[in-house]
Amino acid sequence: MQVIHTIAELRRALAPYDRPAFVPTMGNLHDGHLALVRRARTLGDVTVTSIFVNRLQFLPHEDFDTYPRTLDADCDKLREVGCDIVFAPSEAELYPEPQTFKVQPPPALADLLEGHFRPGFFTGVCTVVMKLFQCVFAQAKGERHAVFGKKDYQQLMVIRQMVRQFALPVTIHGGEIERAPDGLALSSRNGYLTPAERAEAPQLVLALRTLAAGVLAGEHNLAALEQHAQQTLTARGWQVDYLTVRRREDLQPPAPEDLQPGRLVALGAARLGRTRLIDNWEF
Ligand code: PAJ
Repeated sequence: MQVIHTIAELRRALAPYDRPAFVPTMGNLHDGHLALVRRARTLGDVTVTSIFVNRLQFLPHEDFDTYPRTLDADCDKLREVGCDIVFAPSEAELYPEPQTFKVQPPPALADLLEGHFRPGFFTGVCTVVMKLFQCVFAQAKGERHAVFGKKDYQQLMVIRQMVRQFALPVTIHGGEIERAPDGLALSSRNGYLTPAERAEAPQLVLALRTLAAGVLAGEHNLAALEQHAQQTLTARGWQVDYLTVRRREDLQPPAPEDLQPGRLVALGAARLGRTRLIDNWEF
């Protein structure tokens, strides 16, 4: 496995290959990331994982400075799952001048849910993903594949729409959410949790599953279900950003005819102490 820090070196290393399969990450890798890398291995003739904590997608008060940077441990894990190339550029390499050109996603998708609570987040994500795609795919001669996790459900949708609207020659694959045995979705931010918070954290997915079960049991008053879910978590000490049932196709509130199995997703974001967790449950 090669560990590469510059774009020029990456392009040289990729020259012999035709069909790159790419997993973008911010590092501090866990089994959720590694499942995406394993998936990527089945798709192309060379597997590339990027590790880059992207300043553009953090708000000033968020955890950019404290985000865990664990390159050596990450490389050990990637070697084990058979990744071929790790691309870990410095900030000066990826953003040698201020990144004033941006990829601006449409408000109808990017200003709700995560985008509402983290303004500019999806602009930062789209801008870095577009740039990373250029670094990894620009010279590829065959198919290009990229794998994203459903853990960041809205992010996956935004990226799919970006690829469609710019006619990028990249196939996007969505990987299922990897969870701890108690249901908590794996996340680099779980490491911020105190032992007591870690014990409480599975309540988020429980609230989402309870929402889903309510709809499937025929309760069609979504506002009441959502309010109940929110009150339950708030009473347990969470600060809830959103807990809501949406249509999978566009993340809009469902119309009565959408309230059927297979069309919906419950999405949530909430803070436990200083840690913000997100999760979702398709049903
Ligand atoms: P990061 O949070 O490191 O996540 C990298 C990829 O791993 C994303 O596609 C995310 O959805 C996926 N992932 C995280 N936890 C997962 C889990 N428990 N199960 C399955 N997949 C999981 O998402 C980002 O980084 C950044 O926004 C990035 C796309 C790299 C752009 O900077």
